[in-house]
Amino acid sequence: MSDATRRHLLAGTVAGLSLAPMGAWAELLATPAQARGPFYPLELPLDDDNDLTRVMDQAELAQGEILHVTGRVLDASGAVLEGARVELWQANAQGRYHHPGDRNPIAMDPGFQGFGKMVTGADGAYRFKTIRPGLYPGRTRHIHFLVAVPGRADLVTQMYFSGEPDNDRDGLLRRLSAEGQAAVTIDFQPTPDEPGSQTGVFDIVLG
Ligand SMILES: [Fe+2]
Repeated sequence: MSDATRRHLLAGTVAGLSLAPMGAWAELLATPAQARGPFYPLELPLDDDNDLTRVMDQAELAQGEILHVTGRVLDASGAVLEGARVELWQANAQGRYHHPGDRNPIAMDPGFQGFGKMVTGADGAYRFKTIRPGLYPGRTRHIHFLVAVPGRADLVTQMYFSGEPDNDRDGLLRRLSAEGQAAVTIDFQPTPDEPGSQTGVFDIVLG
């Protein structure tokens, strides 16, 4: 269980005392929704797998520090959700999106896929290999997510990095409650056995 999930369980236990009937199982805090932003792909790329550091037919690998972003998709009772489609999109290492609307005068990185998706299996888990997104004006560092499960409303949210100096000034992040901010702010640590890369665990709870 990740620290974030444990915090949610603890928070849910406290909140549940006043709301749930005696004996009801505490609910997890739902991952808060966040703005989709202007840079969701207009056309999904031909290569849309969960490794954003390699693009089909492209010799160059993505520039930037390798990140593994992993976690589980859960419902509010803590049950894992199989068949959830998890989509991720983000800026390249220099802070530019693969999107014609991004007027940032910075070169595209042809080796960076920019968008990826995968569907969770029976364990509810997802995993992306990507790079640490660059900063761009007006925002702290972040990664966009969309989670789609048949029969439920899509969740669109954003994931943040603990320790970023701009987190305290980011309007979208600050809009969330302290609990909500904790749920989407992830601590990345060096990946065991893979020097130079970092891993973060972002569990996503659908309300
Ligand atoms: Fe963004």
